[in-house]
Amino acid sequence: MFVLVNLKTYPCDPVAVAEAVRDVNETTDARLAVAPQAAHLERVAETGAETWAQHVDPIEHGSNTGHTLAESVADAGAVGTLINHSEQRLKLADIDGSVRAAERAGLETVVCANNPAQIGAAAALEPDAVAVEPPELIGTGTPVSQADPDIVEDAVDAAESVDDDVAVLCGAGISTGDDVVAAGDLGSEGVLLASGVAKADDPTAALEDLVAPL
Ligand code: G3P
Repeated sequence: MFVLVNLKTYPCDPVAVAEAVRDVNETTDARLAVAPQAAHLERVAETGAETWAQHVDPIEHGSNTGHTLAESVADAGAVGTLINHSEQRLKLADIDGSVRAAERAGLETVVCANNPAQIGAAAALEPDAVAVEPPELIGTGTPVSQADPDIVEDAVDAAESVDDDVAVLCGAGISTGDDVVAAGDLGSEGVLLASGVAKADDPTAALEDLVAPL
């Protein structure tokens, strides 16, 4: 299972969480990675933790003040990027442009979507993976795998019907190892999570609990 910890703009210490991700990754068959804010990418990547960006823009080098260039993210040490997170929504054409920009820079891609229909559209753009996250469950601590298992299974079916090379992840409310196992049982190849680790008093313990049953 792939466990991608999105730090959003939570007031956690990104380097400390990254060190926990790096260390717990050594103890498990699961693949752990961390997605800090763009401004923290370099410091996080220097820990040796697998580092992802939270977003890249559909742009090339040039006149794009305030944007995030995929090549710069890769130069900072990221190996992948989220695209179209529920908190950073893009138009379909821009999702396509961001996936192409990430590919150009050699970044792995996970395109987020709200529901199975959007997952199908996202899968058609041929990212490495798609992630279904019902917005109403994000940050609630109620796991999508428990509150809305059908949405995960339907997302897996939607992606498979378009392109069965595209992996499906799920996210929202995931904070325990049981949640991760439940996600896997529904056909998900990984999970996206944030508050369960970024807001934990002890991120290492939270990560250990997440991977314990894997
Ligand atoms: O990107 C993952 C995120 O949106 C889920 O947030 O806090 O429900 O784990 P959370």
